[in-house]
Amino acid sequence: MTDDADGDSRDLPRDSLHDPSKDPLFGLDKEEGPLGSPIFANRDLLVVGTVPEEDRIVGRDPEIEAVANEIRHVVHGEQPNHVIILGETGTGKSLVTQHVSRRAVQSARALQVDAGSVYVECKSHNTETRVARKIAMDLESDANAGIDIPRFGLGSTEYFSYAYEILNDHYDGVIIILDEVDKLDNSVDILHELSRAREAGHTDAYIGIIAISNQVEYGKKLNARVESSMRTSEFVFEPYDARQLELILEHRRDAFRDEVLQDGVIPLTAEISADEHGDARKAVDILRLAGDLAERQDETHVKIDHIEQAKEKAEVDQVKETIEVTTPQAKLILYALAKLNLHREQPYRTSEIYDRYELVARDVRSNVVSDERVYQILKKMSLIGVTESTRVGGGPNQGVYLEHELLRDPDIVLSAVLRSDDRLKELEGV
Ligand SMILES: Nc1ncnc2c1ncn2[C@@H]1O[C@H](COP(=O)(O)OP(=O)(O)OP(=O)(O)O)[C@@H](O)[C@H]1O
Ligand SMILES: [Mg+2]
Repeated sequence: MTDDADGDSRDLPRDSLHDPSKDPLFGLDKEEGPLGSPIFANRDLLVVGTVPEEDRIVGRDPEIEAVANEIRHVVHGEQPNHVIILGETGTGKSLVTQHVSRRAVQSARALQVDAGSVYVECKSHNTETRVARKIAMDLESDANAGIDIPRFGLGSTEYFSYAYEILNDHYDGVIIILDEVDKLDNSVDILHELSRAREAGHTDAYIGIIAISNQVEYGKKLNARVESSMRTSEFVFEPYDARQLELILEHRRDAFRDEVLQDGVIPLTAEISADEHGDARKAVDILRLAGDLAERQDETHVKIDHIEQAKEKAEVDQVKETIEVTTPQAKLILYALAKLNLHREQPYRTSEIYDRYELVARDVRSNVVSDERVYQILKKMSLIGVTESTRVGGGPNQGVYLEHELLRDPDIVLSAVLRSDDRLKELEGV
């Protein structure tokens, strides 16, 4: 018995069994150990969602000053201006706003002025009640007001009352940031409520609102609708150019070990990202993915080639995320359209796509939906930005039909669809 047990353990790799700190499953058998990645010194600096420290925010000084100028009154216990910040995704809107309001609160407090700020992510607080609750709860915990606010069962009016009460007792002024304000179901009402609260006698504190959106058109319309009741300054954050992106990435160079980044890697990442639409989030993402790839391939340097691969992976990830919400039938249709485009890149008619789709659906033993349904799904797909549908024809003796163009590289779409659909993966034998 005892012998057997000994015999067993002799056959197994000792390190993995007896020394979890060297488990090869997690790459711990290598010299450097877990935190001793040969590539990264501090990978967290490049992780999406990590908010960079102040000295890493670069290339936005004029915007920082402009926003600060609008809200500076709160530092002195006076009415700040309301602000609307618009701009495409990854242009630093959330970052700059949070940075400026944090500094305003710090300065105010240094001058014995009771200022505060509340950050509301409207994506997850998308109704008036949720926004009001978030504001009340955050003020409560910031001011340590000692009020027990019920989490459930109240409406927006009650939650706003709690917020106003806390504001009255503990604050001279507050900056309320409504980020991704386009995700709210009634943003105009909420803006009206907050901007009129003092005038209406609900609170003595000054409320400054900063509303942010990456839907530029939506933001402009919103501004026009609220302008009559609240004076707002509107800023549009332009996409970063390659030089700014390079600066942003240079300030994260210490995410990597010394000498790991090959010459030209940062400028190339900046250039690629500027080419698309100057999205800093994407630039940071590509750099991290390139590091991950180098590490996985047991390389000691991040090379130009890793950036190219990372760019593709970032794009596939993005398309995959977009199509994740679509139905299994939509994936078959997208696969059919990608295949057609691999053959020749051009717009295709619904009927052409349908023929190809039908073959694919049969190949993966799926049911086949009607051509009307395929037409509907294609129209929906154009709404999420993967395809574009154009009406063609209509001349004498000509019918009208829709043509559908793939807006992304067919290889990228194909990889994304394959990664999100097992039936197609099997069909392609990958
Ligand atoms: N000026 C900058 N300096 C340093 N890093 C930046 C800068 N601007 C953006 N970043 C990086 O890009 C990320 C995305 O920026 P941010 O969240 O501010 O974008 P956004 O404009 O709010 O985009 P979205 O509309 O998608 O919410 C930040 O977390 C940060 O890592
Ligand atoms: Mg944002």
